[in-house]
Amino acid sequence: MTAAAPESAVPDVAVVGFGYIGSVIAAVLAARGLSVVGIDTNAEMIAALNQGKCPIPEPGLEDLVAAGVKAGKLSGSTDPAAAKGVKAILITVGTPLSDEFEADLSHIRAACGAVAPYVSDGQLIMIKSTVPPGTTRLMHDEIFAPRAHVHMAFSPERLAEGQAIRDLQSIPILVGGMDAEASEACADFWRGAIPTIDVMALTSPEAAEMVKLADNLWIDLNVALANELAKLADALPYPIDVMEVIGGANSLKKGQHHVNILHPSNGVGGYCLTKDPWFVDALGRRAGIELKIPRASREVNDSMPVHVFGRVDAFLKAKGIAAEDAKVALLGFAFKSNSGDCRFTPVGPLVAALREAGYGDKLTICDPMVTTREATHHGIVLEPDWRKTVEGAHAVLILAGHDAFTAITADDLGDLAAPGALVYDGRIYYPRARINELEARGLSYIGVGR
Ligand SMILES: NC(=O)c1ccc[n+]([C@@H]2O[C@H](COP(=O)([O-])OP(=O)(O)OC[C@H]3O[C@@H](n4cnc5c(N)ncnc54)[C@H](O)[C@@H]3O)[C@@H](O)[C@H]2O)c1
Repeated sequence: MTAAAPESAVPDVAVVGFGYIGSVIAAVLAARGLSVVGIDTNAEMIAALNQGKCPIPEPGLEDLVAAGVKAGKLSGSTDPAAAKGVKAILITVGTPLSDEFEADLSHIRAACGAVAPYVSDGQLIMIKSTVPPGTTRLMHDEIFAPRAHVHMAFSPERLAEGQAIRDLQSIPILVGGMDAEASEACADFWRGAIPTIDVMALTSPEAAEMVKLADNLWIDLNVALANELAKLADALPYPIDVMEVIGGANSLKKGQHHVNILHPSNGVGGYCLTKDPWFVDALGRRAGIELKIPRASREVNDSMPVHVFGRVDAFLKAKGIAAEDAKVALLGFAFKSNSGDCRFTPVGPLVAALREAGYGDKLTICDPMVTTREATHHGIVLEPDWRKTVEGAHAVLILAGHDAFTAITADDLGDLAAPGALVYDGRIYYPRARINELEARGLSYIGVGR
């Protein structure tokens, strides 16, 4: 039997799964004065954490982790026994898409199973990972309830990469407990940790589980709507700028709110939006109903890299530039502006399409937010200097709205790119005045739906 840790050595919170959201949650809780242990099966990640380092490419996170470790508020362990005696256990492991396009719950099961021998009566256990309705109940009934009378709840994590630290401390927190006592324990935890936050208690864990899926389905579908309007604007024989259309459409008040069509882009990436609509689709299939919306939104958004490729390829062909002679410069590889996260980035399929069509030899890619390690993982080589990337390019594709790229002027592009080059705007949404400046420098501007 393991000797009990001295009272003072027991942290307040265990965060099981020290990945993207786990590291942000743990670091923020530590900064707010709680003592936190991050538990992860990835020994490399935990060794880095204990040295005050964090490889997750989230702005501000590395400093917050370093400060937490230095203050003695944050530490890491690969041993699930580190959860013994803590007041709250937060489960933040991954829920990837399975080969059958369903939620793969194997990490959740493994994580719950690993800490289960160390739980005790009255402990709060909160699942933060995105899961289909019924998962929290299943973990409670099968894994925890036979061992102790824990307070079990689901609380969806709704932070977004690139602004995760701010989001975690500002977006209303939802909680859904297995019973009223568990909901209250979970709500109290968040009110104590972040006193300024709004906490809403729902009547069941299933409702809270479904909220997260509803949020992500709404976002994916809304972007798909913007992307289809953009494709239509590209196809119609009129000078329609889809950004102008969306701006106009969004001025209409409907019910309590305005129409709120989001922006079109070169595609949707990231760990969540690319899988969560499929979780909804799978729930429908299991319930014996065929849902149309999740599949449609996924298919539309997944088609965008090929749409972008088609427009760039058509431009270069119309100019008489052969693929093997064309220099195509990509500014941005991460899936999101001002983030280095490349998980399921839509720039990946675009690069593949360009390579397949023969543009590979002179393809240059710059993304100051992305690490060399991440780039290697995705089979690309990054050019560190955006100026060298753009130099002599026949087509410059701006695919992430990183601050470093928004600072590039029309004169910069006019001076560096080949005469008459294409500037393809996949995510920066230049205003009309900037488009005029580019055109005055002899460049051709094409945006998604513009
Ligand atoms: N990334 C986001 O912005 C975001 C936002 C909201 C919700 N979510 C959801 O949060 C969950 C986690 O996402 P993420 O992006 O942090 O994933 P991630 O892959 O970055 O992190 C998961 C971590 O869990 C660890 N892990 C796996 N099995 C384990 C086990 N048995 N015990 C301990 N650790 C284990 C992994 O080593 C990894 O470090 C997912 O369900 C995701 O859908 C993510």
